[in-house]
Amino acid sequence: MLTAVILVGGEGTRLRPLTTHTPKPLLPLVDRPLLTYTFEHLARYGVGRAVLSCGYLPTQIEAHFGGSHGGMEVEYRVEDSPLGTAGGIRYGAEGRIDGTFLGINGDSLRMADIGALLDFHRAKGALATLLLTPVEDPTRFGLVRLAADGRVVAFLEKPRPEEIDTNLINAGLYVLEPEVLDLVEPGRPVSIERDVFPRIVEQGRLYGLALPGYWLDVGTPESYLQAHRDVLERQLDTVVGELLGDDFLFVDPTARVAAGAHVVPPAFIAAGAIVEAGARIGSRAVIAAGARIGADCVVEDAVIGAGATLGRAVQVHAALVGEGAVVGDGCSIRALAVVGPGARLGEGNMLAAGVRLGADVELAPRSLAF
Ligand code: GTP
Repeated sequence: MLTAVILVGGEGTRLRPLTTHTPKPLLPLVDRPLLTYTFEHLARYGVGRAVLSCGYLPTQIEAHFGGSHGGMEVEYRVEDSPLGTAGGIRYGAEGRIDGTFLGINGDSLRMADIGALLDFHRAKGALATLLLTPVEDPTRFGLVRLAADGRVVAFLEKPRPEEIDTNLINAGLYVLEPEVLDLVEPGRPVSIERDVFPRIVEQGRLYGLALPGYWLDVGTPESYLQAHRDVLERQLDTVVGELLGDDFLFVDPTARVAAGAHVVPPAFIAAGAIVEAGARIGSRAVIAAGARIGADCVVEDAVIGAGATLGRAVQVHAALVGEGAVVGDGCSIRALAVVGPGARLGEGNMLAAGVRLGADVELAPRSLAF
């Protein structure tokens, strides 16, 4: 049975305050946790078991997924202290694997042919094989330089423009032989990217393969919002995409959308949500379960978390409102601003330019115009 060790131990600091109470793998992406999409991907390619290498808020993750998910066995290993990406894979894999396995960063979204990656790995006799993905702007990433046969010859971290001769980056999914674990010193933090892969390059046994498909690293509010757009626009195959269907619109039968509200696809309105008259939802909007959108609000290119409440005439553009937040009348939330879960904004506040309001914070009426 093919096993995937999935790293889910990080604190998700770049996504605070959304990750203050919720580990990143459980952050909702449209209507289900981010990690569910990785499970969907793995199940599609016959992975039978996932071992989650946990650290931050592990009990929530285990309580959510339990012992199996979508036909896949799910096991949990919880680190006492962060062991890094290689340490986390070793800790998750120890005693559980007896052959080729997968190592995965649990916070990326991807759709690529894992079977083709395994075939390539075996044909090359590799010790480890990286799934690679091309990027439009190679100056922003660490790059992977390949020989003509797919062998990794170098990692280019922060390359100077004249050094850039590739646009391929590590997509955070690896085929690994158990011997890789011997290269990871136990009991201290070890990075697979910085400490382990360079040693396998020296042995000439690290390979990389770029496959067509989708890839996005969900690490920041900007990329988290982008992930929502991509699922809503069906840029990758997902169960949510099937719910959205050909008209790119899902309104749960238990949601109540007033006559005189406008819903512009793509949009997803989840169970029990309420949208009052004169509101405009979309395009590219998610109204999560039980959220309430007041009259004359505009929610465009934005996500309103479960149970959150928007008063009258609130404007939310390209922004995220966390679970259970309460936003007063006439507030404006724009430009990658984030309202933390449980936060309360008095009326007339304006948040923009990436402002983040912490979890459970209260803001008096008209106190912020940024
Ligand atoms: P930031 O704090 O925002 O950088 O997020 P992060 O640490 O959650 O993510 P990062 O991109 O640094 O890590 C990539 C993946 O590895 C994520 O899925 C993390 O959950 C996971 N990860 C990072 N460090 C560890 C670790 O020490 N142990 C384990 N088990 N997983 C880790």
